[in-house]
Amino acid sequence: MTETRWVFGYGSLVWRPAFPYVRKAPGFVRGWSRRFWQGSTDHRGVPGAPGRVVTLLPDADAAPCWGMAYEIAPEDAPKILAALDHREKGGYARHELSVQLDTPGEPTVAALVYVATTENPEYLGEAPLETIAAQIAASRGPSGDNRTYVLQLARSLHEMGAPDPHVEALAAFFEGASAKGG
Ligand code: SIN
Repeated sequence: MTETRWVFGYGSLVWRPAFPYVRKAPGFVRGWSRRFWQGSTDHRGVPGAPGRVVTLLPDADAAPCWGMAYEIAPEDAPKILAALDHREKGGYARHELSVQLDTPGEPTVAALVYVATTENPEYLGEAPLETIAAQIAASRGPSGDNRTYVLQLARSLHEMGAPDPHVEALAAFFEGASAKGG
């Protein structure tokens, strides 16, 4: 991987990067679908009772997948990457993807993206939306309850003008619930 200057988040990193950055900009990747198919036993669930969080699945026909891109200072990169590796250790691996920033005249940037591939032990995969929603409703972990993750992600994507139909459909199960925290 080339020197990391950008980090792209499409899940919790959209609303809670928790690292210093030079600037941030909404952006998107092509060829990937965001899905609540990754199990979480260290953030939104616990061992034996995993929650569900998002990962990216290769999908040539997918609509652009929007998230938040963060430019980081070179001198901060080693510390930030070490912290992110720890935060995303529940099945995610580093990838380098091309991100189109939503800034007029801005070129695409090569960004570090954490993707949980189907090979990781926590991967749960596809399930009916009702099943996913029921699992999320019942799940809670060290980072908070799982439904808040869904609602916070839906809200953040709305705020950037890029609602995701899969996230919207899940958030609809939790309408009226609070989306405080990260
Ligand atoms: C990300 O936010 O980009 C990775 C997945 C997550 O931590 O929710």
